[in-house]
Amino acid sequence: MALITSKKMFEKALTSDYAVGAFNVNNMEIIQGIVDAVKDENAPVILQVSAGARKYARPAYLMKLVEAAILDTGIDICLHLDHGEDFEICKKCVDDGFTSVMIDASKHEFAENIRITKEVVEYAHAHGVVVEAELGKLAGVEDNIKVSGAAATFTVPEEAAEFVAKTGVDSLAIAIGTSHGAYKFKGDPYLDFERLKEIHALIPETPLVLHGASTVIPEFVAKCNQYGGKIPGAQGVPEDMIREATKYGICKVNIDTDLRLAMTAEVRKYISEHPEDFDPRKYLSPARQAIHDMVQHKIRDVLNCSGQK
Ligand code: G3H
Ligand code: 13P
Ligand code: ZN
Repeated sequence: MALITSKKMFEKALTSDYAVGAFNVNNMEIIQGIVDAVKDENAPVILQVSAGARKYARPAYLMKLVEAAILDTGIDICLHLDHGEDFEICKKCVDDGFTSVMIDASKHEFAENIRITKEVVEYAHAHGVVVEAELGKLAGVEDNIKVSGAAATFTVPEEAAEFVAKTGVDSLAIAIGTSHGAYKFKGDPYLDFERLKEIHALIPETPLVLHGASTVIPEFVAKCNQYGGKIPGAQGVPEDMIREATKYGICKVNIDTDLRLAMTAEVRKYISEHPEDFDPRKYLSPARQAIHDMVQHKIRDVLNCSGQK
């Protein structure tokens, strides 16, 4: 039971048909829901913290909550910075005790992305911390107009090989058609599997990461909307596509939106059905259980990593 890096998790996942779930955390109930499910399923796990989550929960609370989760459940946890935008935030997280950081310099041009990533790799590796970087751009909601248009921002396989060789990065987030949030596709869902296979063939030893991998499960969108939400036309990545991606080097699958939807649906339902209650524990208990159930579903039915600790 300890804070660990993702190194061993990815070594195993790379040679198997499963991926490790990387779940975004912001508060105690989310952390508890996730780690309880991970313990029940004897699965590997990455808890990841965005800059926004770090600001919201505050670094000291996050560290202590994760330490408490390890103590309480006895599981190993990889604590990861999600989308660090520069060297400084990556350094802060390394210094705070994170075991993994993402430097996302994908908005910069190729050479600059390499330069910044290399700087983070040198610092992190000197402190026993692993690094994820990103190459290519995830389509934003408004960007995802046509496959041909979006393809211009997808990861170029030859560049991925050069990038990994020049930076020494431990894992690489790639762009093949996913995007963040609840509105991923305007028409039919599409991922560029041929591109993924090419990337994996060129860098077979590099664990690949799929961001924007929530399915935006219709049942949960409908439940939010039924109890007063307004999330029309939301659409995510079908579960069979995620399962398929884990066969071609995808070792880490990032999930945030599905947790947000599960939690919000339950809070909305409880408050709507119990207008007389005002004790936060009343609605946060089922919300925490909803996080648990969503993570259990992902581990068992999508990531296929149950029992792979
Ligand atoms: O990649 C983005 C994650 O879903 C985190 O989102 O920046 O709103 O915390 P956030
Ligand atoms: P979703 O918005 O699809 O959950 O993606 C989360 C993510 O990629 C975090 O880095
Ligand atoms: Zn992401």
